[in-house]
Amino acid sequence: MSRFACVHHIEVGVVNGQATVDMLTSKYGFKVTAIRNNSVAKQWVLTGNDVRFLVTELLTSDQKLIEADDIAVDWMPCLSGHVTQRKDSVFNISFQVDNLDLLSLEHVQVVKPVKTLAGGQVRLLTARGCLGDVHHTIVEKTDFSGHFLPGFTGLPDTTPDTTPDTTPDTTEDLAEFGWSHFDHVALSVPIGGSRSVMKFYEKFLGFQRFLVNRDESPEDGLVLSHHLRLRAMRYQRGAEAGALQRGAETDGPVLEPTDQFCLVLSEAPSLDVAGTNKVEQWMTSHPGPGIQHLALSTSDIKRAVRQARRCGVQFGQPPPSAYYTQAGKLADILEVNESVQDLQELDILIDKDQGKRYLLQIFTSPVLPTDPFFLEFIQRHGALGFGSGNITALYRSMRHMENMEVTLSADQMVPVVTQTQ
Ligand SMILES: [Fe+2]
Repeated sequence: MSRFACVHHIEVGVVNGQATVDMLTSKYGFKVTAIRNNSVAKQWVLTGNDVRFLVTELLTSDQKLIEADDIAVDWMPCLSGHVTQRKDSVFNISFQVDNLDLLSLEHVQVVKPVKTLAGGQVRLLTARGCLGDVHHTIVEKTDFSGHFLPGFTGLPDTTPDTTPDTTPDTTEDLAEFGWSHFDHVALSVPIGGSRSVMKFYEKFLGFQRFLVNRDESPEDGLVLSHHLRLRAMRYQRGAEAGALQRGAETDGPVLEPTDQFCLVLSEAPSLDVAGTNKVEQWMTSHPGPGIQHLALSTSDIKRAVRQARRCGVQFGQPPPSAYYTQAGKLADILEVNESVQDLQELDILIDKDQGKRYLLQIFTSPVLPTDPFFLEFIQRHGALGFGSGNITALYRSMRHMENMEVTLSADQMVPVVTQTQ
């Protein structure tokens, strides 16, 4: 039985494609499985089971040439401010659907109208989202047996992509990381902007709002601190049969974590802290709203963190030791039979849901040279949330730590953004 596979790929637009590919392969264990080169762009597909990145380096700034290309998209004009030089950005969440014609394009800015490729086996459409440079390429495939998308060439050691979203990659590096699928994307949203964002994704793709936990107010979202307010939406199994599947929330079966892909909307709660909170700072650095972080599901987060450390991945500021020994957190760790020593050694955070359901997570430092985007590793043991309970736990554990800066952002503690060039 195939895993939920509504996300076809996530696209990273970069200045130096080869350097980005080298980084993703050497530090995170992904494999280059297909490439595409023409006068408009160089593109690489990197794969780890159902995690698929498309790295794009544009070779021209001629908008007419880019618009005419079947697949390449220019994200630069959509960044905020006066960005004069091309800049790295994770900008495209591509979804696979069974029928493009079911999409509601009212109020959607289509940047690449529907293209029919490979004799009708593939249809593509790219639309701009409603936030900054966020785009969505919607993919419809019918009996497509090529690599990734038309125009891509599979590398010699790869097999044809006959079951594109379900073929496991069993190479050693991938086994070390245990990558499984995209779990969620966190979007940085301007203050007061979440309602319109939710409306956009509901109408365009059939995402549905859900309450992260019992503390969340339907009206106000989940206010976690003066830095952060969260709301969440999900796109669930079955939605790929068409663009929309309304009513499943109440009528359908209980969802498992692998049945869904979530968007987490993070915004500052009020104008009073504009410019001082981490969501606003992220948008200044990006610049503008956008994809703040991406959570990769792993089957073994401890093994993944150890391997990542060996490969030179930098993680965010570790939690203080008091985080693991405070009463509530320690009891949670022991109740689910995790090892305090292991979690503390690896700086992994834990958030327990009801009963023995919990999740483990950790955040990397920014992964691209000039963008604050970062990754989250997540391993779920039944919990459906995003680790919001860790916000409180981290604050509590910080009380005894003087002169230590905690950076709290999207749905968690996140690394300080450092620009390396
Ligand atoms: Fe997250």
